[in-house]
Amino acid sequence: MSTYGRLVRPVLFRADPEWIHDRSIRFAERIGTSTHTVNAIARRYESAHDSLETTVAGLELRTPLGLAAGYDKSGRAVNTLSALGFGHVEIGSVSADPSSGNPRPRLFRLPEHEAIVVHYGLPNDGADEVTERLGRASRRVPVGVNIVNTNRGTEDPEDAIIADYVRSVRRLQEHADYLCLNLSCPNTSDGRGFFHEPRRLKLLLSELTITRPLFLKVAPFADDRALEVFLETVGQSNEVDGFAINLPAGKPHGITSDLPGAVSGKPAQRRADETIRALHRKMDRGRYSIIGSGGVFTAEDAYRKIRLGASLVQLFTSLVYRGPGVAKDVNDGLAALLERDGVRRIGDVVGVDA
Ligand SMILES: Cc1cc2nc3c(=O)[nH]c(=O)nc-3n(C[C@H](O)[C@H](O)[C@H](O)COP(=O)(O)O)c2cc1C
Repeated sequence: MSTYGRLVRPVLFRADPEWIHDRSIRFAERIGTSTHTVNAIARRYESAHDSLETTVAGLELRTPLGLAAGYDKSGRAVNTLSALGFGHVEIGSVSADPSSGNPRPRLFRLPEHEAIVVHYGLPNDGADEVTERLGRASRRVPVGVNIVNTNRGTEDPEDAIIADYVRSVRRLQEHADYLCLNLSCPNTSDGRGFFHEPRRLKLLLSELTITRPLFLKVAPFADDRALEVFLETVGQSNEVDGFAINLPAGKPHGITSDLPGAVSGKPAQRRADETIRALHRKMDRGRYSIIGSGGVFTAEDAYRKIRLGASLVQLFTSLVYRGPGVAKDVNDGLAALLERDGVRRIGDVVGVDA
């Protein structure tokens, strides 16, 4: 077990999960102001493997592995996080107006499952503040901005929700290398999501003026028909470059906890893998790419998602359970797997097992 697993995690896990999460972001924000420190972190955690370099939606990335949305919700720690060995960092979800999210407690660990139960309800500093912060950040890798509608604690009318996304996109895209619209926050009241109705998704896509690569983050589909309807709807727009997979609402098989919220980490793996495979099979592969997340802890996990159809993979929960060396471990392991299999470029195996 790593030093983090033996010595650091036991101490961190004694504290309240949200308190530690906030402290870790503030700490990363503070050390990110020193170029010297950020360079030292990069020397420790970045690795260079030609076989992992990839281009997705025009973004040139040194590894397909990125940090998933939700860790740095308001873009405070981009300098530091982008030195941990990730090929990209996704911040957010950011909404047009600031929001304090759901009442606490709203974040829980399930250590026996290497999982987190999340019921944050999208707290963030809002598009204006995050835009200014991003403008000041010195990033080492592309930064994606994940956008969602403002959680006001009420059910907003349809046109207000669409307008919220449009306002955030307009404001945030200037400093984003790509955008990801979170269409499926699992913490919504009915768990189905506002964009379940194709008409609303069509309306949103028609209202946006996008100048960056655009991904849509969706929850696993209820069935093949729902996936087909989604792809048909998205296909009517020329703006979309791909899809990211969110956590499903509700509890995965084997998790009996009645804590409120969606479950990330190991228990999220299976549903995410199935969704990647289903999307890859049905989508127009010349047009769209997939960003897969859900239980990526090891190089094998990342490799499996890539072979099922993900061009990029992301992690969040394993950063909590395995510590800051997790991206380096996954990158080095992925490069070794490619060498073992005689694969020259990671892009060559996207979808080979779908
Ligand atoms: C505490 C927490 C907060 C999250 N917040 C967001 C969010 O604000 N927006 C979003 O699109 N996804 C969010 N996610 C989902 C992650 O981006 C990711 O898709 C998911 O956790 C699966 O990856 P993992 O198993 O590696 O954690 C969150 C996940 C966790 C655990």
